[in-house]
Amino acid sequence: MAKVATRNPGLALVAEGENVLIVGTVNGTDDGRQGWVCRLPAHPEARKAGLGRRLVEELEGRLRAQGCEKLNLLVERDNPDAIAF
Ligand SMILES: CC(C)(COP(=O)(O)OP(=O)(O)OC[C@H]1O[C@@H](n2cnc3c(N)ncnc32)[C@H](O)[C@@H]1OP(=O)(O)O)[C@@H](O)C(=O)NCCC(=O)NCCS
Repeated sequence: MAKVATRNPGLALVAEGENVLIVGTVNGTDDGRQGWVCRLPAHPEARKAGLGRRLVEELEGRLRAQGCEKLNLLVERDNPDAIAF
């Protein structure tokens, strides 16, 4: 994660919680035209409360601001939570 964050400044986001120090993260990458959402976990106890949405929307805003026209997220077939998200 440190390598990706160094290559993509401002695109490694961490959500801090009250009881748990970190409740969510997301990494973004950018090839100049399109961006990728990578490594998006929300803490199991913090799910379905809008955290994943807030992380992705914040990342999307940052990628748009640096010229990205398209945002991609790879979802595996055997990940029903991610598909529903
Ligand atoms: C995918 C993940 C990040 C979603 O995070 P989250 O904080 O629960 O998502 P949000 O609460 O922001 O949900 C956003 C929307 O997706 C829906 N959603 C999220 N998870 C859902 C689920 N399992 N089933 C149905 N709907 C779901 C929410 O209801 C919400 O819809 P709404 O805006 O219409 O109400 C979380 O389930 C997770 O960490 N999963 C394990 C890691 C993972 O698979 N990451 C994604 C890899 S592609």
